[in-house]
Amino acid sequence: MIRVGIVGVGNIASMFVQSIHYYRSGGGSNGLIHSRIGRYGVGDIEVVYAVDISRHKVGKELTEAIFQPPNQVPKLVDLSDSGVIVRMGRVLDGVADNMVEDFSPSNLPEPTAEDLAKDLEDLGVDVLVNLLPVGSSKAARFYAEAAAMAGTSFVNCIPEFIASDDGYNRLYESRRATLLGDDIKGQLGATIVHRALARLISMRGGEIVESYQLNVGGNTDFKNMLEQSRLHSKKLSKSLAVASTQPDPYDALNRVFAGPNGYIPFLGNIKVSYIYIKALGFMGLPVTFDIKLVVDDKAMASSVLVDAVRLAKVLKDLGVYGAPPWASAPYFKHPPNLVRSDEEALNELYVRLEEYGVKVEPKHTF
Ligand SMILES: NC(=O)c1ccc[n+]([C@@H]2O[C@H](COP(=O)([O-])OP(=O)(O)OC[C@H]3O[C@@H](n4cnc5c(N)ncnc54)[C@H](O)[C@@H]3O)[C@@H](O)[C@H]2O)c1
Repeated sequence: MIRVGIVGVGNIASMFVQSIHYYRSGGGSNGLIHSRIGRYGVGDIEVVYAVDISRHKVGKELTEAIFQPPNQVPKLVDLSDSGVIVRMGRVLDGVADNMVEDFSPSNLPEPTAEDLAKDLEDLGVDVLVNLLPVGSSKAARFYAEAAAMAGTSFVNCIPEFIASDDGYNRLYESRRATLLGDDIKGQLGATIVHRALARLISMRGGEIVESYQLNVGGNTDFKNMLEQSRLHSKKLSKSLAVASTQPDPYDALNRVFAGPNGYIPFLGNIKVSYIYIKALGFMGLPVTFDIKLVVDDKAMASSVLVDAVRLAKVLKDLGVYGAPPWASAPYFKHPPNLVRSDEEALNELYVRLEEYGVKVEPKHTF
């Protein structure tokens, strides 16, 4: 079993918890990127710890908390009690001014990093997953440091640069724990689709003149991102993820714009992305792409999260500590090192894992 803790019991947490039950109780392996990573299937993941700050969630049983407002993922499977009661976390900058009503912070006492680290140790949490709202710069670092203190591995799903910060890499190395991140790259979300097209253009000799990726959605993730001051690292993470497919990523960054562009409540967890690319092809003649992508954003994230959690556990078992760039590259938008192609990133992960004698199923070949 992989004992997992969750920070932020929002929509991804709901999809993640439900997906574990789905795949454990006969869901087969449909829709999974990998059915097995080392000896772990998705059904081997067990959520044993959860923190939030919402008065609708703290103190509730996890399988009840995931359906509290403002969460919107419907009930997709029958869940038995998990035995996990959601604990109070540290608010810090987790709640933006425009989100106070939605996230309804509780006034229960907040834990210190030492309290949190002790909980993680007492419960034997292998991997702590960060699912805080965008812009939680202080809160994300608070939980990352508490996890390091406990020697618990950390998967950073949000656009705060933690795994890609060498200081945290060294901290996790010294605490003999694994760090993966930053900013989860959804299974078939806008980033990976945009990257694939941008890479294709470059591989076929074209040159991107200008490109944008506009994203709208209707959940708290999108509502929270209405606050421009919280978006700096999100825009950089998304735009650089696309620009990094090009020969000169930082030059391409001047021509690529990707970010959240609006909150449309009726969309719920559906994300609509519009990807536009104008490129110059043969003899300098223009080629234009205009694509609309519609996905369940929380399924896209959870699909990657079930891989990332298993990978973090496998690496810690092997004694691979800190933030190995090759481990984060296939799964995160802003890994420690930029990567041109997702196929190459996945191939490198396979090669590295094989060196350690770890098998992955199915192994995708390109
Ligand atoms: N495809 C995707 O969904 C995707 C992709 C990349 C990154 N992300 C990021 O993942 C994160 C989680 O997404 P989500 O849709 O589950 O968000 P959400 O808004 O549904 O949930 C956030 C949760 O965090 C809680 N919270 C707020 N401050 C807290 C604190 N200080 N301590 C503990 N809990 C706190 C809130 O009460 C809420 O339950 C977001 O930052 C999102 O941008 C999502």
